[in-house]
Amino acid sequence: MTYETTAGPVRLRHFTLADCEIADATPPTPEDDRFSWFGFPVPGRLRAMVESGGFPGPGDISGRLAVEVDGEYAGTVSWHPKDYGPIQAPALSFGIGLLPTARGKGYGTQAQRLLVAYLFATTTVNRVEAGTDVENIAEQRSLEKAGLLREGVVHGAHYREGKYNDMVLYGITRPDFERARAAKGTKVTTGFTASR
Ligand SMILES: CC(C)(COP(=O)(O)OP(=O)(O)OC[C@H]1O[C@@H](n2cnc3c(N)ncnc32)[C@H](O)[C@@H]1OP(=O)(O)O)[C@@H](O)C(=O)NCCC(=O)NCCS
Repeated sequence: MTYETTAGPVRLRHFTLADCEIADATPPTPEDDRFSWFGFPVPGRLRAMVESGGFPGPGDISGRLAVEVDGEYAGTVSWHPKDYGPIQAPALSFGIGLLPTARGKGYGTQAQRLLVAYLFATTTVNRVEAGTDVENIAEQRSLEKAGLLREGVVHGAHYREGKYNDMVLYGITRPDFERARAAKGTKVTTGFTASR
């Protein structure tokens, strides 16, 4: 795996009001979005953020961006800081949600690769990570293909569907990211392949 992220139909960008209309018209549902439905989302919240100019700027350690595929809105990525000690040196934890029609075509992998590269390029953090439900095989596979290392299972950490669930934690450090990006054409082995 390398970190050449410029080619391809996927890009990250700020939200537009047109995106907000699509997002409000296609909220997560328990049927289609088992792993990202935590209750009814507040309609208009994204639009309020866009209208108030609440975009992430360079260096922001929390934010949300639109995923675009071939010029069309396809979903969102977001990130927030996660502290591992009393000194202010957080890691960044990210998440993703694609519209059902955009899934299973490699776009999630590419969007997450772009986000990792963006976060290392625009913040000073040393570590970027993502956790996902132990049953969310598509996201585990996608994170692995995006170059993150499967680090372990965090037990009972994730409240969803009325119970605590186990999560798999994936991460990549800045030195490992730089090494992967420098190794053009070299496959980075992450040590995990999801079985179906
Ligand atoms: C999870 C998500 C971001 C993945 O993005 P995607 O574009 O659909 O995934 P990709 O096409 O890039 O790759 C998915 C990989 O998982 C595999 N996969 C998909 N569904 C699978 C399943 N049920 N079991 C096993 N593997 C599966 C695909 O085959 C592919 O691997 P491959 O290239 O080796 O064949 C996207 O599906 C999504 O937004 N899902 C709903 C929200 C969600 O779950 N977000 C993450 C919450 S932590």
